[in-house]
Amino acid sequence: MHIMTVCLGNVCRSPAAEAVLVRALDEAGIEGVSVSSAGTADYHVGERPNPASGAEGERRGYAFTSRGAQFGADDFDRADLVLAMDSSNEEDLLALARTPEEAARVVRLGAFAPDAGEGDGVRDVPDPWGQSREAFVAMYDQVEEAVAGLVAALREGRLEEVVAAQRVRR
Ligand code: 4NP
Repeated sequence: MHIMTVCLGNVCRSPAAEAVLVRALDEAGIEGVSVSSAGTADYHVGERPNPASGAEGERRGYAFTSRGAQFGADDFDRADLVLAMDSSNEEDLLALARTPEEAARVVRLGAFAPDAGEGDGVRDVPDPWGQSREAFVAMYDQVEEAVAGLVAALREGRLEEVVAAQRVRR
């Protein structure tokens, strides 16, 4: 199984979500799941993660190995699950999907957070680009919480159920 994390620039949120997910899968002993990330825009292709995102991630012990890449429709050829950080990323990804089956693989990461479905429904992971260090700290806290939910859903065989529930709300 291949999972992709996707944001706008692929330098702040999606590399963070990729690193958090890689480590969480390893710690949970889940094998056979690979992870990569991409941005819907081409602004930062080939670049390392944004310094503020990398610094907060490294402070938390995460490793960053990938470079900025743009998501293209052919990424649906390999991705079984495409995790959008916010609603705008989700809309852009749905516009790239070539079939309803590909569109069905797109879900916001927040669908796996403990508060998903309550109050505001699924929360976006807000764009921290150009913001203070606190925004990056909050972004990692939010990503770690949702990734824990995703790993639990994988372990308990509830992945498709969570994805389908968000699809109905969309
Ligand atoms: P990301 O943040 O989507 O979390 O990587 C951004 C990075 C760059 C830009 C916007 C958001 N930008 O406009 O260059």
